[in-house]
Amino acid sequence: MEVTVLVGSQWGDEGKGKIVDILSNRFDIVARYQGGANAGHTVIIGDQQFILHLVPSGILRENVKCVIGNGVVIDPQALLDEIKFLESSGINTKGRLFISHNAHLIMPYHKLLDQINESGANKIGTTGRGIGPCYIDKYARKGIRIVDLLDRTVLKEKIKLNLEEKNNLLKKVYNHAELNVDDIINEYVEFDKQIDQYITDAPTLLNNAILEGKSVLIEGAQGTMLDVDHGTYPYVTSSNPTSGGACTGTGIPPTKISSVFGIVKAYTTRVGNGPFPTELFGDEGEELRKTGAEFGATTGRPRRCGWFDAFLLNYSRMINGIERTAITKLDVLGYLDEIKVCVGYEKNGKILKSYPTDISQLENITPVYETLKGWNQDISNVRSFNDLPSECKNYLSFISQSSGIEIKIISVGPKREQTIEL
Ligand code: IMP
Repeated sequence: MEVTVLVGSQWGDEGKGKIVDILSNRFDIVARYQGGANAGHTVIIGDQQFILHLVPSGILRENVKCVIGNGVVIDPQALLDEIKFLESSGINTKGRLFISHNAHLIMPYHKLLDQINESGANKIGTTGRGIGPCYIDKYARKGIRIVDLLDRTVLKEKIKLNLEEKNNLLKKVYNHAELNVDDIINEYVEFDKQIDQYITDAPTLLNNAILEGKSVLIEGAQGTMLDVDHGTYPYVTSSNPTSGGACTGTGIPPTKISSVFGIVKAYTTRVGNGPFPTELFGDEGEELRKTGAEFGATTGRPRRCGWFDAFLLNYSRMINGIERTAITKLDVLGYLDEIKVCVGYEKNGKILKSYPTDISQLENITPVYETLKGWNQDISNVRSFNDLPSECKNYLSFISQSSGIEIKIISVGPKREQTIEL
């Protein structure tokens, strides 16, 4: 029985989709535990590209069952579109996809409020998918959950009550047109008819499977530095992408977790606003963005790009308990003669001992860099560790030694076969 939590160790977009796909043929179940359709997990199989927003990437392996856990916030339209896309691509979801009855639903007013909030002065740079407002309602105990769909009377009552308040807010505070309650009720009743077959008591399903000796991969979305508690607040998402969130977001207890696997991009990227000490600007940043095709899988936004940050990875290792890792997009750095790596932060002439997540402390940080030799060649066709250039091996051993994390997988391109396992 193995229960592994897989987390993004930086600001998301580390390439979790591909690695979950690689690992998932060794697991019986893959479960998502937080976030929503703000995520975009890309998997390339042959000539086909799959971008998954809600359904765990394990769905692409036919013997794997997939669970959307209670910690995920579900946008009905995004979920239906994704199921339709998978089915039309020959991927069966029936009897393989299970949705927790305790997961919260993204409502039309969540998306609207997300977009309205982002048009104000307090811009986080969200994906506009309604994630924050949905989690606000969850914690305010006003949320509408999958289980509410099962009783039409309860559903209508809850939507009416919520909409009364939201329409007041939309009209009086934001001077926005009101939303129609019947339209929303009809939309969600229709949604229920289509997803009814997938709804389940997910904590019981998962815990019974573990008791039967089945293995589970718990797939995180976003990344450690976007965690609402441990990230660069307030420039974060509204859930816990760190490994702790895996238990609350699935109902699997901590005593059943066997290990934590971190995904580390060979450099650093971030989408949206907020501090990013090793960010590269101008031509240097542009070249890395272009070479790495760093554009958001969900919003298409250009990602901010920068050097690998070992100080950040150490923090991420500590918060998540990462023991093993996959290094992704290593091939992207092949155009560089020299590669900088950040080994610490200096502020007011002092080297910081622990990672500052308070954004005011992160202001005016000077990253301390070491410079490593680049390998200056294309490694995307390399399939064994021994065939990697020595400079590349050096780079990997720097990452592993500076973080104390064992490297198990090296990804040298987006395709399944562009993978080196150690
Ligand atoms: P939200 O999750 O849409 O509320 O956005 C909050 C912050 O998290 C923004 O900076 C987003 O760009 C970022 N974010 C959300 N989802 C992802 C993701 O899957 N990858 C990278 N960044 C993300």
